[in-house]
Amino acid sequence: MMSTQTPTPVLQARGLVKRYGHVTAIDGADFDLLPGEVLAVIGDNGAGKSSLIKALTGAVTPDEGEIRLNGEVIRFNGPQDARCHGIETVYQDLAVAASMDIASNMFLGRELRRPGPLGSVLRMLDKKRMREEAAEHMADLKIGLRSLTQPVETLSGGQRQAVAVARAVAWARSVVVMDEPTAALGVKESGQVLDLIRRVRDKGLPVVLISHNMPHVFEIADRIHVHRMGRRAALIKPGDYSMSEVVAIMTGALTVDEDGGGTVVADAEAAKAAGIGTN
Ligand SMILES: Nc1ncnc2c1ncn2[C@@H]1O[C@H](COP(=O)(O)OP(=O)(O)OP(=O)(O)O)[C@@H](O)[C@H]1O
Ligand SMILES: [Mg+2]
Repeated sequence: MMSTQTPTPVLQARGLVKRYGHVTAIDGADFDLLPGEVLAVIGDNGAGKSSLIKALTGAVTPDEGEIRLNGEVIRFNGPQDARCHGIETVYQDLAVAASMDIASNMFLGRELRRPGPLGSVLRMLDKKRMREEAAEHMADLKIGLRSLTQPVETLSGGQRQAVAVARAVAWARSVVVMDEPTAALGVKESGQVLDLIRRVRDKGLPVVLISHNMPHVFEIADRIHVHRMGRRAALIKPGDYSMSEVVAIMTGALTVDEDGGGTVVADAEAAKAAGIGTN
């Protein structure tokens, strides 16, 4: 029956490898993002999460392996190429231009020109239309900002994050990737960003969320990709495992078979140390 078939992943990778000299940052990593899901990517420092995301968003070229977008094998020639294919990334260090206003940030690198020779010859910007469209996008995501002509540097961290997310969502057609979007934010601001992520998912766009924040991950993720030593150690549903079990998978104390079905304790001592029962 059609309804029981797994849908084609929006973004998928098999056997990705990326070496930097002696360091293997990605060591045979698989990746699967399904339509409309929030997929959290978690793992210890240095596990290779950022490297994986860079490979999936065109920022690095993998040495080996295959990436598929909507089922088709694809090779990205840089982040701009991935963007052209509908993949938008919100980087941790917030690629917003602080001195520019919100509308200009939304259209950074994709400025609208005035119609006719004013735009085509004189390269004049259509600021009015950019403001109108920016306002529409912000309203669409229920982001309340007093003025779109306000420079981004006058916004709070959470509001800036909202602008970066809104920009990504406005342009993304396939996937939104967010690297630690709540890392620098307070409780209230984090809550706003999590709400935003939910609204993005409700619009039908799948979201990849890289995070170290386990409560946030459990609050928002449909599935969790646990990355360990350069590859996917598990792909699980948050409801099937406790937070401490997921931490144990991250550290290698607990191993899970590929489809996330049964659990096997690989290292009883380590599991005990992590507070996991051995059944
Ligand atoms: N450009 C690079 N040159 C050399 N080594 C690199 C490079 N980028 C990553 N690495 C190495 O690859 C490994 C994985 O790094 P990566 O940044 O992907 O980890 P991460 O899981 O994102 O860690 P964190 O949680 O600290 O952000 C590390 O050992 C890192 O030193
Ligand atoms: Mg990283």
